[in-house]
Amino acid sequence: MRRLSIAMVFAAGLSIVAGVLTATLMEGPYLAAQEASAQTANPADAATPAQEAGKAPTYADVAAVISKYHCTVCHGGTEPRAGLSLDDQKSMLKGSKRGPVIVPGNPANSEIILRLKGQSEPRMPFTGPPWLSDDEVSTIERWIAAGARE
Ligand code: HEC
Repeated sequence: MRRLSIAMVFAAGLSIVAGVLTATLMEGPYLAAQEASAQTANPADAATPAQEAGKAPTYADVAAVISKYHCTVCHGGTEPRAGLSLDDQKSMLKGSKRGPVIVPGNPANSEIILRLKGQSEPRMPFTGPPWLSDDEVSTIERWIAAGARE
């Protein structure tokens, strides 16, 4: 009788240990999966309805990218770096103290695109990497190509 109960306690102990072990082992992949789904849920990474329809991105699409990379920490407020404010569409079109950074209809000649791709130095964001993804640069390029409208 005594033997039997020792065996039962032992078995119960074993299954608890096994349970804890399984839970610990499962936690890694579970957390990784959670993180991955949180990332795919980021609206800034997802294609906007405009992109899916093949239409030009709107200023709101552009502002979302600018905000995601915190450009306005430097290019905003009363004393923006290089005199360039990215606070709104009008300021963006006004450009920096050196001149325009956006040539509507001509993204290839727009300093902002050259900076984002690192074809003009220093590359932006100044604090990068991370740099913008190709899709994010393309959002801004296609917005400029379509006239950089409000
Ligand atoms: C940590 C501060 C900082 C951040 C963040 C930052 N910049 Fe800049 N940016 C600067 C400074 C400083 C310069 C001037 C550097 C130079 O050309 O000598 C500059 C220059 C530029 C220029 C060139 C202006 C000109 O006429 O030569 C553009 C365009 C620009 N930034 C766009 C951006 C964009 C877009 C982002 C976000 C993706 C960004 N920057 C993030 C500090 C910053």
